[in-house]
This record gives sequence, structure tokens and C-alpha cells, in this order.
Amino acid sequence: MSTLLAEDTKPQTAPVDFLPLEGTDYVEFYVGNAKQAAHYYMSAFGFQALAYAGPETGFRDFASYAVRQNKLTLVLTTPLRPDNPMADHIYAHGDGVKVLALRVSDARSAWAETTQRGAKSFREPEVLTDAQGEVVVSGIHTYGDTVHLFIERNNYSGVFLPGYRAWSNPHFAPESTGLQYVDHCVGNVGWNQMNPWVKFYEEVMGFKNILSFDDEDISTEYSALMSKVMSSGNGFVKFPINEPAEGKKKSQIEEYLEFYRGEGVQHVAMATNDIVRTVRDLQSRGVEFLKVPTSYYDDLLDRVGAIDEDLEPLKELGILVDRDNEGYLLQLFTKPVEDRPTLFFEIIQRKGAKSFGKGNFKALFEAIEREQAERGNL
Ligand code: FE2
Repeated sequence: MSTLLAEDTKPQTAPVDFLPLEGTDYVEFYVGNAKQAAHYYMSAFGFQALAYAGPETGFRDFASYAVRQNKLTLVLTTPLRPDNPMADHIYAHGDGVKVLALRVSDARSAWAETTQRGAKSFREPEVLTDAQGEVVVSGIHTYGDTVHLFIERNNYSGVFLPGYRAWSNPHFAPESTGLQYVDHCVGNVGWNQMNPWVKFYEEVMGFKNILSFDDEDISTEYSALMSKVMSSGNGFVKFPINEPAEGKKKSQIEEYLEFYRGEGVQHVAMATNDIVRTVRDLQSRGVEFLKVPTSYYDDLLDRVGAIDEDLEPLKELGILVDRDNEGYLLQLFTKPVEDRPTLFFEIIQRKGAKSFGKGNFKALFEAIEREQAERGNL
């Protein structure tokens, strides 16, 4: 541990993290009806109303609702008129993730460091102010029409961002389902585009490739894909990148690309400290999950060893378990949360494991293929 070393014994070559990220600030979706989408995330996932922006706060062209649960903030935004890039985004992609916003201590530096390394600017650094202080925002493009915003909020005490006002409904305040923070966000990119985007995250954002899966690891009879996991220098932000691979029939990534009309965010993984409680709660509120056959549980403990949880509730709820060198994890995936088979969510509880559930890929992808076949997309 370098912190235990005296100053003069530190390696002189330790690279400086030119883009120190403090975590995910929020995830913003462009949706066809933000008011109803916000209600869905509140009622089904247990988010609480936080902030609102729209005509009443001085924005003539859109309405935007921020909802929060512990360290997770989602923003649902919709255009109010058709002559608006948000409307074009929804026409092309359906409801989907537009912004993966990252918390930084210096948004000007984040923009300068990344654009100087080749990132395409989405938004030059801008200071937003209101009576609660100031937030500096800047942004760059990533895969597809997706963008990263850099959010510097050291000098801000308002509820969300300048331009938003506090929003709540005293008659509707759903209980939390125990979701805590964004564990990782996965992007789907086109054929042969994984490595160029890995290079982008390495060179432009200073990320490291911490894990790779090739089509040997993750192909079932039909649904092949390749994946590389990119992590920020401090490990607070992780972006796995998937591309389709050749299989007997259509890859789940191809199905996504076809229906999203291009590259974009495939899933957002949200962490919980008690997956049995969280999944039971989500299920009772109507969230639909992928189901693996119950035979998955027959030899589960032989595969993953002893775990703290009782097997029965895991089996009842369809929760998956995988182990790596450092511990184990429990995870479960929702079905797509809109009519196009595009974005879905992962619920994850880590008990030491830092990996992504490779041991579950086969059972999981077979479950996805059954869904694809039902949609006529296999
Ligand atoms: Fe994941």
C-alpha cells in the first residue's frame, strides 16, 4: 500500500489520475412521458421524489423529474415540443439512457483533460447558479448518442441542480426497496467496436481494462457476445462494454442494436445490501425478472461453496450466485423496462466478489434467448 510508504520511497513512476471520478452523480433518461416514468421508478423501484425542472422553473422546452434512493439518482426528462434534439433521441431510440453523469471535483479540468485526449465535446464547462450556490457542468460524447457529463458540486447546497426546484408529493412517498448506489453501467456497441471503445476509455478517460470475456466464455448455443470491463483509476466507476459475436442465431446484443437503433446503455446495475428483501419487494411492486430453470439450484452450492443466505428464498426469487477469488456475489436481472427489448436493470449484492457473474452467463443467456424467441428475434 503506497500510503504506508514514506514519501521518498514511493515509486517515482506512479501515473497521475488525470480524471479522478468520485462516482456516478446521476443517470438521465430521455423518455416519452417523464411524469409517468418518474411515477414508475417511484412506485416500482422505491425511488423518492427529489426535484423538478420545466416551464415553471424557466425551461420552455422540456420537463425533468429527479428521483433518488440512497446514493442513486435517476432523472427522467421529456421534450415538450417536437423540434428538439430530445424528441429526435426518443424517436430513434425509444426511452433510453442519454446521460451517465460523473461526479468530479473539477469539471473544467475533466473537460480539458478528456477533450485534449480526443473526446468530442458535448458541453463546454458552464457554471450554473442559484441561491443555493453553484454547480459546474461539462460533458463529452461516448458511444452512440450517449454522453458523460462531469458534475462539480462542491459549492452547492440545493436539492439537485440549479434550475430544478424541490419536488415532493405528500400523498405519495413510496418506501425504499433498499437500492443503494450504481455498481456499474454496461454499454452495447456494434460489431468490432468493443476494442475502439476500450481504447477510448483507456486513453481519453484514464480507465483500465480489469476483466475480459470472449465468445468462448459467453456463448450459449445462440447468443454470443464479447465483453471488456473498464474501471476508473480509483475503481469507483465501472463500464463494461459488450459487442456481439458470431453465433448460430442472433446475438442478444444485435437485438438491442436493432431495436435501440444503435449503440447505447444496455443495463444499469444497482447495488443492495439485502438482495432477498430488495427483490421480493420489487417483485411485489410489479418489476419483472428473468427466470432461470430451478435446476440451476440443484448443484449451486457445489459450484459456489458455502454462502450466508438460505437457498430456498434464492430459488423462490430466482436470484443467481457466483464466486470469484475474493468472495461471492448475488445478482438478478429485470426484463427490459420498456417495450423495445433494450434497457434493463441488474440488482446486485456483493459479498467480497469484484467480478460480474461470469459463472451465471450461460444460464442467464439461455433465459434471455427464451425471451428473444418469444419476441421472434432469435
Ligand atoms: Fe452487469
